[in-house]
This record gives sequence, C-alpha cells and structure tokens, in this order.
Amino acid sequence: MGNTSLSLRFTILLSLSFAASSSSPFFFSKSPSLSPSIPKATPSDLLSLLGPPSQSSSVNPSVADELKSCFKFLVPFTPIDTRKTADSKSLSYRRFLLKSPRDEENELVWWPPEPVLELARLAVDSGGDPGSIHRALDPTVLPVPDVEGSKENKCGLTRTPYGRRFISQELNSYLEYLFKLIVERGPSVGLKVSLTRYDLFHGHLFIATETGRLGILFHAKEYPAYDKDVFPINMGYCQKGSNVTYDDAMNLRNILWLAPLPSNSTKGWMAPGVLLVLDARPGGIIYKDLIPEYVNYVRTIYEDDLGSVVVDVNYLNIGDPQPDYQIFIC
Ligand SMILES: *[C@@H]1O[C@H](CO)[C@@H](O)[C@H](O)[C@H]1NC(C)=O
Ligand SMILES: *[C@@H]1O[C@H](CO)[C@@H](O)[C@H](O)[C@H]1NC(C)=O
Repeated sequence: MGNTSLSLRFTILLSLSFAASSSSPFFFSKSPSLSPSIPKATPSDLLSLLGPPSQSSSVNPSVADELKSCFKFLVPFTPIDTRKTADSKSLSYRRFLLKSPRDEENELVWWPPEPVLELARLAVDSGGDPGSIHRALDPTVLPVPDVEGSKENKCGLTRTPYGRRFISQELNSYLEYLFKLIVERGPSVGLKVSLTRYDLFHGHLFIATETGRLGILFHAKEYPAYDKDVFPINMGYCQKGSNVTYDDAMNLRNILWLAPLPSNSTKGWMAPGVLLVLDARPGGIIYKDLIPEYVNYVRTIYEDDLGSVVVDVNYLNIGDPQPDYQIFIC
C-alpha cells in the first residue's frame, strides 16, 4: 500500500472512532460462542491441518472439525502417503500420464514446477530465513506504472512504488497461474472474483513460523465500494471508482496457497501443495478465533499471524486500453 492510499487493515483502524460512535447495526458484536469446551483455534492449527498426518493429528479434534468446516478447497486436498515420497523425475512422469486439463491444473498445485519446489525447500533449509527468498529475486527495480487509472486517483496500490521479479521466469509464471486459477475456480465455492485493482491483485508471501512452509495469503475484495448502508467506510483514494460490492462473498476473501512441504531429513516431501478459500463467515471458528475483532467487518486474516512475511506479490493490469497483467513483487 502506498502512502496516498489505505488498505483495509489500516483504514479499519482509522474507522474505529466511526464504529464506536455509530449506532448502525452492521458492526457485529461478538459472534455466538461455540461450545466452551472447544479451545481457541490458532493459525498454527490451521496450517497443521493442511500438513502431513503427523502434524494434523496434533490438532484438537473439535477444533479440527470446526476448521475443516471452513475450508473450501479450490483444488482437492489429497494428503499423500508419506512412504511413497516421489522424486522430481517420477513427478513429471506422473504429470505426463495425466490427461484432463483439470487434472493437470490440480497437479500443478500439488506438485509445482521445479523452481517452485526449490524455493519451498530453500525456505525450510534456511530455517525460515526471508533472505533466502529475497536472494531469488532479480535486483532490477521496476517502477509500478498506472493501474487502471490509479494514478489519476492518486492511489498507490503497492507497498512500494516499484517492484521486482524472480530471476526464474517460471516462478513468475507460476504466480500468475495461481491468480488465474483462483479466478477460474472461485465461483465453484461461491467466490466470484476479478483481477482488478479493487478486487484480487495481491497476496502476501510468507514462511510459516513453525514448519518453514512457504505460502501465499491472497486477499480478494480489497476495496469494496463505499455504500452508506452496507459499507459506510471511507478507504481513501484507492476505493474511488470501485465496483466491488460488499456482500457475503467478503467471507471468502482470504485465499491460501501452501507450497508442498519438504521433509527436513530426506530429499522427499511430506505434503503436497494446497489451494483453498478460508471461509470467515460470522459464527465460524475462523471468524471467531483467527480474525482480529477490529477487522471482523472486513474479514481480514493477517499474513503476519501465519508466519514471517517475505514479500507482497502483486498482479497488476498495467495495460491501456488493452489489458496487460504483470507481476510486481514488492
Ligand atoms: C468490475 O469491473 C471489472 C472490470 O471492468 C469486471 O471484470 C468485474 O466483473 C466488475 N465486477 C463487478 C462486481 O461488477
Ligand atoms: C523436522 O521436522 C519435524 C516435524 O516438523 C520436527 O519435529 C523436527 O524437529 C525437525 N528436525 C530438524 C532437524 O529440524
């Protein structure tokens, strides 16, 4: 986010006084509490459930059930048999045997191309050092151009006014692939999303705290349109012109990708990659335990809660008038 714009995280802080002085009913008070015997879910529980059986089995079963009820997989979740850890040769062989395009798309999430796997292993082998990922970036600095009229609105969309790309072109293409797959498959779980500067244009790349697993937390519906009844929150320059409506799809704005989890003792893999929507519907355990109360109206899960944030990944339409989407890593 630039200094001339505000993202949901900060705007809502600024809106607190508004909330406090407002009698309007849309600021939810605490959601109905779940059974008091269920412990509070943690970000680590969430990540463990998406990991190998050795990790998921450590989560309290009631918490696990509640969390699973909030998982909306964009790619089927298939924990692997860890006894059959495949090397990359047999992975590409398996890919070669597959036929349907849908299977191939799934496979690219379960077992991404080699450069993605290398990055995932680097994250773990470095002991979760963000510098290990930073070093995979090309040092060339790319100014972020106008994005769909953002300059005219004085909207700075990205954390910095310039970005970079990975040295490996395949890594950059993979990031594009993830954005497109979310748009393509979102509707199957009720998330209609578009690649615009008001909706889906960024994700936060992180290294999970306990496991070193590489992930991206995408945030869709970033700038809902101001509406005096349903979304009376002024978010500044970047919100101007928004056509994103505040509705039930807001519950689905947090989308999580996790890279396959490398084994820390062998060359094998402990879990395949995952891609899912985290349903933050009021009353659900994600809304109740994983979303800070001061942002519950906008359902934001914070990337910092999942691990060390390495970079923001932006996919921006810098074409005019023809769309031209480019990756900017900030
Ligand atoms: C908003 O505009 C974009 C680009 O014109 C379009 O793709 C998208 O479907 C629109 N979204 C809504 C909710 O109307
Ligand atoms: C390897 O990972 C396991 C499970 O995540 C952990 O318990 C163990 O301490 C790790 N070993 C090393 C050498 O880091």
